[in-house]
Amino acid sequence: MTKERKPAFETKCVHGAYKAGSGEPQVPPIVQNTTYRYYNAQDVAELFDLESPNFMYTRLASPTVKVLEEKMALLEGGTAGIATSSGQAATLITVLNLCNAGDHVISASNIYGGTHNLLGVSLKKLGIDVDFVDQDLPAEEILKLAKPNTKAVFGESLGNPALSILDFDKFSKVAKEIGVPLVVDNTLATPALCRPLELGADIVIQSTTKYSDGHASCVGGMIVEGGKFDWAASGKFPGLTEPDESYHGLRFYEKFGPTAFCTRLTAVLVRDFGCAMAPLNAYLTHQGLQTLHLRMERHCENAMALAKHLQDHPMVEWVAYPGLPGDKYYELGQKYLPKGTSGVLCFGVKGGKAAGEKFLENLDLTSIVVHVGDIRTSVLHPASTTHRQLSESEQIAAGISPSLIRVSVGLESIDDIIYDFDQALAQVK
Ligand SMILES: Cc1ncc(COP(=O)(O)O)c(C=O)c1O
Repeated sequence: MTKERKPAFETKCVHGAYKAGSGEPQVPPIVQNTTYRYYNAQDVAELFDLESPNFMYTRLASPTVKVLEEKMALLEGGTAGIATSSGQAATLITVLNLCNAGDHVISASNIYGGTHNLLGVSLKKLGIDVDFVDQDLPAEEILKLAKPNTKAVFGESLGNPALSILDFDKFSKVAKEIGVPLVVDNTLATPALCRPLELGADIVIQSTTKYSDGHASCVGGMIVEGGKFDWAASGKFPGLTEPDESYHGLRFYEKFGPTAFCTRLTAVLVRDFGCAMAPLNAYLTHQGLQTLHLRMERHCENAMALAKHLQDHPMVEWVAYPGLPGDKYYELGQKYLPKGTSGVLCFGVKGGKAAGEKFLENLDLTSIVVHVGDIRTSVLHPASTTHRQLSESEQIAAGISPSLIRVSVGLESIDDIIYDFDQALAQVK
């Protein structure tokens, strides 16, 4: 008898979390409704007591969203996933599942500008204090920021747009020492290139808007839990370990164990804040995930070829791409993202900000958009757009110089992409 074979990542992308029965739709269908029918009051009561796996109301769960959640949990190697209306919502409710007013988070500073603002401005107004730290400092320095009320350590596996690679060994050691979860935003890397839960993270977040959807068709977010963190060990997470009055004194960790974090996310935070993903967006994101493995391979290949071309271009001052030998994050990239360092690269045109703006204007095939991870090659100037809320010194701390142009390299022919960059650079002179 042949030994049972565990499906590879590629097969999970294509088939994971959904198998049609005879006569059923081959593609997970869009269940476009708000509500579900029951036979009696007891069926409904069981739902409200979290005793039933059935659906109640689409703000809390829906069949189409559930397929996406299960697929992403499978791809990230976690125990459960919760989809949200956006990546921002995913980060927000993750922090709120860990912290109350008066609590504290340590975050790497090389993160997406919107997350920096969410953590450093909006959550601060709610009484949650965040210290941003240079992620390249030694563990001992980062640990100096720890306080008795620290509840999480946060970073991006591949920083947007700094293209820094998180040192997982160091950050998981820091989080373990403090007794809190390591939360990692895996948006730019995706599980096709990096699986944070296998590298010491406890919770993974994604803006599915980017590579997971991959076609620039819908905004969404996802949270996946690893299922191994002991929420009771430190006594720091009463929301998960103490009785919840809105569920008749239920204790999430005691009842749900390895899926306690995600169960509370839905049952309390999505319930109260209403940031659920719509079924149509789940359907579209799931369509994208089915080809994630292939798309990421080609995004990496094209980005590497463009990075090498730009590196030798006389009009280009510098190129940052962690896949390039000599890049500041090359070694960490080889260690943690050995299959490739994604499709995003950054560079500066000789002549600074003005030359960079001229270059952008002259692109033809390539579009200027506030987005990454699309199949179409696109560019952005973060200092004047996504990171404009930050001061210049905060921008520098987030790895953004005034001349930085971020490129999200798409899936067109690399020859056409290079032709477009060359003609736009030629017009800068
Ligand atoms: C790394 C990262 N995390 C989170 C977000 C926020 O996601 P969304 O735009 O889906 O709210 C983004 C958006 O660009 C991002 O790049």
